[in-house]
Amino acid sequence: MGANVQSNTTVGLAQATGLLAVRRAETANMVVDQYRKQGVKEVIETFPQVGEILDRYGIGCVSCSVGTCLLEDVVRIHGLPAPQEAALMADIERALGSGSMMAAPEPAVAAASPPIGRPARSYSPPVSKLVEEHTWIKRVLAVIPALTEDIRARGRADARLIGEVLDFIRGFADRFHHMKEEDILFDYTDRQTEVVRVFEEEHDQGRGFVRAAARALEDGNAAALCANLTSYRELLVEHIRKEDEILYPYIDRGLTTHQVGEIHRRFEETERAVKADIPERYYRFVTSLERRYPGEEKEQCPTATTTQVVQAPA
Ligand SMILES: [Fe+2]
Ligand SMILES: [Fe+2]
Repeated sequence: MGANVQSNTTVGLAQATGLLAVRRAETANMVVDQYRKQGVKEVIETFPQVGEILDRYGIGCVSCSVGTCLLEDVVRIHGLPAPQEAALMADIERALGSGSMMAAPEPAVAAASPPIGRPARSYSPPVSKLVEEHTWIKRVLAVIPALTEDIRARGRADARLIGEVLDFIRGFADRFHHMKEEDILFDYTDRQTEVVRVFEEEHDQGRGFVRAAARALEDGNAAALCANLTSYRELLVEHIRKEDEILYPYIDRGLTTHQVGEIHRRFEETERAVKADIPERYYRFVTSLERRYPGEEKEQCPTATTTQVVQAPA
């Protein structure tokens, strides 16, 4: 009899403990689910260690200027190999758990973590074309520090040259390149996703800097001109890096062979609709610009003070 009571009490306790563990796990999952649907910047503000974890996996959300992407989209779009994604999520869940009322899950990864890094990238033919266009845009961006240094040294800008730089940005980077992204490539992904919207928003930010630079050129305001060119460069360098490393591979992974062919055809049609000599004409301009500003200066980073006088994009 006594033994039975003791046995029943033990079973009851075990059941209660089990129930409690299940409830805690359910609560933990609800909290983690809630953060998955939250903007990554907000999550990082509440749990700075999440930023460190993402950084460790090569996901640079801490330095992103927008940061409105949802945590779950950020992880998905980076396309980490499955074991790495699982390890990343386990690390994040542990970080979220340690900051809330719920019990922290067991450390799942630690020393057993797979090496952090991405597989080598390969692009479909139409996406490769966009990556190649990036290289031309980056070559102009690389000259901007020397160009702005020159303007500051002279106290004025060479209106013709700056006009040509702005024409390259508008005609090639924006009209020829961004148009294909916005009007064609982004159709092949869920463009309502915050992650994709951020890229379109950055195109708009860039247009704002270019408009402000053109106004500054007209007004003879050398400081504002340099500041806006510098801000444009900072924005586009990071934008292109994210496209090459994250967005393009993400979109490419979801394309069928038929869609690849369709994008290729639509790119060609769009390019034909624009003047046929556009790339060659702009490529010649880039080469001449580099001849005018050769040397290591073109790789310099802009100084922090230059961005303080930047005009707000219109
Ligand atoms: Fe873009
Ligand atoms: Fe691009």
